[in-house]
Amino acid sequence: MSVSVKIREAIERSSWIRKMFEEGARRKAKYGPDQVFDFSLGNPNLEPPSKVKQVLENLIKDPSPGQHAYMSNAGLVETRQAVADYLNTFNAPRFSPDEIVMTVGAGGALNVVLKTILNPGDEVMIPKPYFVEYNFYLDNHQGVPRLVPTKPGFSLDFGAMEAAMTEKTRAVLINSPNNPTGKIYPEAELRELARLLTHYSTRFGQPIYLISDEPYRKIVYDGVSVPSVFDVYPETFVVTSFSKDLSLPGERIGYAAAHPEMSEKQSVLAGMVLCNRVLGYVNAPAIMQRAIAHLLNDSVDISIYQRKRDLLCEGLAGVGYDISKPEGAFYLFPRTPVEDDVAFVAALQEENILTVPGTGFGGPGHFRIAYCVSDDVIERSIPGFEKVIQRY
Ligand SMILES: Cc1ncc(COP(=O)(O)O)c(C=O)c1O
Repeated sequence: MSVSVKIREAIERSSWIRKMFEEGARRKAKYGPDQVFDFSLGNPNLEPPSKVKQVLENLIKDPSPGQHAYMSNAGLVETRQAVADYLNTFNAPRFSPDEIVMTVGAGGALNVVLKTILNPGDEVMIPKPYFVEYNFYLDNHQGVPRLVPTKPGFSLDFGAMEAAMTEKTRAVLINSPNNPTGKIYPEAELRELARLLTHYSTRFGQPIYLISDEPYRKIVYDGVSVPSVFDVYPETFVVTSFSKDLSLPGERIGYAAAHPEMSEKQSVLAGMVLCNRVLGYVNAPAIMQRAIAHLLNDSVDISIYQRKRDLLCEGLAGVGYDISKPEGAFYLFPRTPVEDDVAFVAALQEENILTVPGTGFGGPGHFRIAYCVSDDVIERSIPGFEKVIQRY
């Protein structure tokens, strides 16, 4: 057998989205692409803002030499300065370029941070439901996921978190706005989390890090904003990217930022820079680093996603689905009318509606709808959603 046992198992475990993808391709070939309502992937359907292309065109025309060369593994200093300036607009701590490492997307940033801090067998606490790739990222660095339940409405359950704390707890990994729920953790919850982490860091004699995965920070609705984790806890990393807010997931550009007052900051940052290199990323793509230095305050038109959210929520609530309106990101995580979310998702599939069972995110009894699709797909899918729920 040429593929390792571990990877063979990983292929099996990661099969939900893959299954949906394959089923989608089969159905699109059979029924025609416009007859299949594909809500399975978080691949933004909006094009990047036109400014992205203008910036890239200007960069391509720049004749100065060395534009495509290797650089410091942390990234271009002018880009890291621009990111620091941007972070300084909404966080109390003052960032400098030294605290920023440019990465290959948020996925790259997570791998860099996890590789830097984890010893084999260290645990990372993750509130459920969660982005399942975390399991694989942790496994890359011999970390162990410690999944904890959340309360109704997906707010943090501090009792459950406290019960799951051990001497091996190295970090808590949160994602706000959340994939798959759209939940944003309010400041009071972050402060409570900071108190818990401070208490257990003291008790166990080493910092328990907070890693906040924030690629959806700018995708928020109804005037809500995402509170700063840096303002509440010093042992904090933020990992993020431009994949979602600028619709650039294929360009693989993001960054990791470490709190300016983090203890052992110098060695942590030296570790992150080394890990960016030895993970084989070497550095984030050069032209995209140059580009995003001009785009930090830009995003796609978020009101378009808000309209899609409203269309979907109104459509589904109108035909009897139990939903709570997401505050951010572009996912809806409704309850399934039966416990068996896998069976329910299979029933939707029969109507050519492709979603993902909540079980795949550690959130059984729900299913995820990625609504980064055209309005037309949302509108035309509602009768199919209605037909299926009426059977239950
Ligand atoms: C919660 C979350 N974190 C990280 C990522 C990875 O983002 P990137 O494409 O920037 O690596 C995604 C992508 O879907 C995500 O939903």
